[in-house]
Amino acid sequence: MSAGVPTMADRLLDAFLGSAARVYGGESVSELEHSLQCAELARAAGADEDLQLACLLHDVGRFAVDPREIFDKTDRRGTALPSARGHHEVGADLVAPWVPERVAWLIRMHAEAKRYLCATEPAYYDGLSAGSRFTMALQGGAMTPEEVSRRARHPWMADALRLRRWDDLAKVPGKATEPIEAWAPLLRQHFGRVRPI
Ligand SMILES: [Fe+2]
Repeated sequence: MSAGVPTMADRLLDAFLGSAARVYGGESVSELEHSLQCAELARAAGADEDLQLACLLHDVGRFAVDPREIFDKTDRRGTALPSARGHHEVGADLVAPWVPERVAWLIRMHAEAKRYLCATEPAYYDGLSAGSRFTMALQGGAMTPEEVSRRARHPWMADALRLRRWDDLAKVPGKATEPIEAWAPLLRQHFGRVRPI
């Protein structure tokens, strides 16, 4: 952490470090391992830097905000405020003032992408983990044909589906990744101020 008032980057790095102690849903990886694996899968696939950042931050709504603001918890513990929303919405809103619109949109869309793939690929649902199936029910279930055709026209939807597939793969116990500090320069590039401009 830098001297003086912590920046948003400091806050996020602290939240990532704290997420190392939290199990990701019903999976066998921590939330930190999951985020790092997702971002590295994107980088290895040649994704641009904004898409990598979206992958790193896609679940920030699970570990960087008051958990009472989230209703789609996989641990099924704790109470949610009446105003609680999905972790994808809360996370996207948290980072939106700091990042390009596409990054926040991709974070917001990662639960929708799961609903999209369940509607368009019959085998996709069968491959989901129990935790992902549980939260999808909370998030509205498979999309209707009308929702699918509306989303399919969005120019960033293909990236949202790529993020979603990396999200699904980023659950490998014990997989070696770089530490979160390797992503600090990118985080500081976007979140290196106390407040957004
Ligand atoms: Fe995730």
